[in-house]
Amino acid sequence: MKSSAPGKIILFGEHAVVYGRPALAVPVAQVQVEVEVVDSPRAGILINAPKINLHAELDALPPDHPVAAVILNLFATLGIPVPASGLEINIASTIPVAAGLGSGAAVSVALIRALALHVERSFSNEQVNELVYEIEKLHHGTPSGIDNTVIAYAKPVYFIKGKPGETFKVGKPFTIVIGDTGVPAPTKETVGDVRRLWLKNSSDFESIFNEIAQLSLIARRSIESGRPEVLGELMNQNHALLQQMTVSSIELDRLTEVARNAGALGAKLSGGGRGGNMIALVNSSDAETVAQALISAGAKQTVVTEVS
Ligand code: PMV
Repeated sequence: MKSSAPGKIILFGEHAVVYGRPALAVPVAQVQVEVEVVDSPRAGILINAPKINLHAELDALPPDHPVAAVILNLFATLGIPVPASGLEINIASTIPVAAGLGSGAAVSVALIRALALHVERSFSNEQVNELVYEIEKLHHGTPSGIDNTVIAYAKPVYFIKGKPGETFKVGKPFTIVIGDTGVPAPTKETVGDVRRLWLKNSSDFESIFNEIAQLSLIARRSIESGRPEVLGELMNQNHALLQQMTVSSIELDRLTEVARNAGALGAKLSGGGRGGNMIALVNSSDAETVAQALISAGAKQTVVTEVS
């Protein structure tokens, strides 16, 4: 049994989403996790995930290991014991790890779907989303839930913490270039730093969050009504607000600037910040030029994706 799940990017609203403001995220189908579950003559559940150097028996992993936790929670939710007969779980991924592209949530989504198929059960997107949110808490502490929602639905989502994500239509497709700084930056830390700054200076941070909320709202309307070209300027504004929140970095500022100079209509960091990815809105004919400019400026990897 095989199942796959896409990566994701946050278009608008990261960090502000932790404080109840809306954010927009879209799936990135160009990068994927694929999980295969096969019967094995050996007893026990063997997990192979070469990308994270994991080759282990389920029994040998701590129960709060993110992959073990998915398997244990899934069978607990189904109300059936973990199969004693042999299973081999192969996890292959083209999603860069710890880069803000949702690799952890994508592994969880694909693993749940593949295991459920194997035991002839099926889950709704909402059930998958809820299960994965529990696992995301192990990875990230107090996540907003945006990653699991966009990846479980594999559709653009307008997300407010604590509410079901709203999927929405894209009036006219648009192209995004994603550039990876190659700098690892744990989201838990940036979220914690923003919280400390917000506690010290809540009125300034609340107004930054309100401005970001406006950008997310305008962006959703523009995407739905087929005017994606206006997103470029909105991205530039969102990036400036993220800089004020101290979550940008020299590398993110440099890559966003390089993308704009190479013809992008706008650019911003995406995700937790300080490292990880930036995104740029481009006319599709400029995608290669912008991607090349990012590589020349030190990006470790680029991905071009069409949002539709
Ligand atoms: O670093 P990512 O792509 O997982 O995104 C984090 C987004 C934040 O808003 C900073 C945190 C959250 O839980 O929403």
